[in-house]
Amino acid sequence: MKRILITGAAGAIGSTLRAGLRGQYPLLRLSDARGMESAATGEELNTADLGDYAAVKTAMSGIDCAVHLGGIPKEAPWPSILEANIIGTYNLFEAARECGVKRVIFASSNHVVGFHRSSRSIGIDVEPRPDSRYGVSKVYGEALGRLYADKHGISVACLRIGSFRERPVDARQLATWISPRDMVQLVRCCIDAADYRYLLLYGVSNNTRARWKNPHAARVAYAPQDNAEDYAAEIAGRTATGAAAEFHGGDFCNLELTNKINNIE
Ligand SMILES: NC(=O)c1ccc[n+]([C@@H]2O[C@H](COP(=O)([O-])OP(=O)(O)OC[C@H]3O[C@@H](n4cnc5c(N)ncnc54)[C@H](O)[C@@H]3O)[C@@H](O)[C@H]2O)c1
Repeated sequence: MKRILITGAAGAIGSTLRAGLRGQYPLLRLSDARGMESAATGEELNTADLGDYAAVKTAMSGIDCAVHLGGIPKEAPWPSILEANIIGTYNLFEAARECGVKRVIFASSNHVVGFHRSSRSIGIDVEPRPDSRYGVSKVYGEALGRLYADKHGISVACLRIGSFRERPVDARQLATWISPRDMVQLVRCCIDAADYRYLLLYGVSNNTRARWKNPHAARVAYAPQDNAEDYAAEIAGRTATGAAAEFHGGDFCNLELTNKINNIE
């Protein structure tokens, strides 16, 4: 994999990957709907709205591996989820097929399984239980990835990213945190790993309190170095309430909730 595209490159994770992957590949093409600081050696800038198929195809042309981060990263009204995450992710995979892109690394989210009880540790074999429209869009993205892997032979890795932050800020993140350094390593591992067809990985650091089993991590040799436990003392007492305390998805489960927590099996 020599020619790498990052969508959503102007964002929080995209900027971190930009810095972390710089100089590692002959081409890093950085795409976003908004502008970015000027290109360094080995970088190309591309402006594309994910809802515009022709623009996405231009961004994807000549690329070996696309790291698809672009989109809405939290709960939002349906029209914006539809445009960026549903139509945008379809455009990305379809352009990958048309342009002969070999591999897509899709930024999924832990919110695909948000309504599983956090008292249970879960793996990649549990049913999807999204906690938001946003989570539904990520279930859909994982399904698109499976379709394009099976039907068109594209190599796909879906990363169920936990909480990407400089440092964890509340009790939930003692389990869900992924550090910038581990995020870069995870994406590098997924770009560089020898042939795979479809992988599902949780994007988390080596957290003592992790509640997600990650069997595909070894397939790409992902060995996270950071542990949220190092920050446990400074965030003591910042615990969640209501549904956020009961389920893997945390605060997202409380948003717009009209059901009783006890009615959720
Ligand atoms: N940050 C986290 O903790 C976290 C956790 C789970 C999943 N993720 C996923 O990782 C990805 C990156 O997250 P982030 O935190 O860097 O988000 P971010 O909002 O900082 O970056 C997303 C980028 O996507 C771009 N974008 C949005 N809509 C677009 C469109 N229609 N066309 C083109 N570009 C568009 C934005 O301009 C932005 O630069 C997202 O897909 C998010 O769902 C993030």
